[in-house]
Amino acid sequence: MLFFINFKAYEESTGSEALRLIRSIEREFGNNKSIILVLNPLDSMMETKLVKFAQTAEPQEAGPYTGHIPIGLLRKYSYSGVMLNHSEHRIGFEEIGESVKIASKLGLTTLVCAADLNEVAKLIPLEPDYVAYEPPELIGGDISVSTAKPEIIGKAVKLLEGTGSKLVVGAGIKNKNDVHVSKTLGAEGILVASGVVKSPKPIKVIIEMMKEVS
Ligand code: G3P
Repeated sequence: MLFFINFKAYEESTGSEALRLIRSIEREFGNNKSIILVLNPLDSMMETKLVKFAQTAEPQEAGPYTGHIPIGLLRKYSYSGVMLNHSEHRIGFEEIGESVKIASKLGLTTLVCAADLNEVAKLIPLEPDYVAYEPPELIGGDISVSTAKPEIIGKAVKLLEGTGSKLVVGAGIKNKNDVHVSKTLGAEGILVASGVVKSPKPIKVIIEMMKEVS
């Protein structure tokens, strides 16, 4: 089970606060490969022994681009992968396809977000490594995807069976029960933001969630 922690653009998880959070995760978990930090592009220079993903990037090599985040540069900043098409940063289908191609060519892992089952199905031919099912209306809220939409998680797992893509689920994930349900339904990972980064005790939350799957 993988734990993608999206740092988003919260005060609590960017700049010096991001660094503090990263160091406390390292102190507790070392370089545990199950934990993946999904960082704000402004924090791209942060070094860590944990696995890092970019929150988004664009299908470009290095070159004459101003204000863009070329996928071609991610390795230089020690990213292992890239998240694409998050509900808060939607991109077109063609751009997703192109991005996945470039990222795979460069050996970067891809995590592409989908808002519903139709979108999960549509992404299959693009062969991302992970598809993250996140119902937008539950993002940042108190009711988790595993509580509100367990049947959709099960259906998404089935849809991805036999493809090269694995399912990650996110939205409102906050506790070990959410992780337990997601895992039992066949998800290979969870994508969490506010439940960790806005918690007064983020490490305690991660420890609890990790216990559930170890
Ligand atoms: O990318 C993770 C995300 O959109 C879910 O956010 O705050 O509901 O965990 P949150």
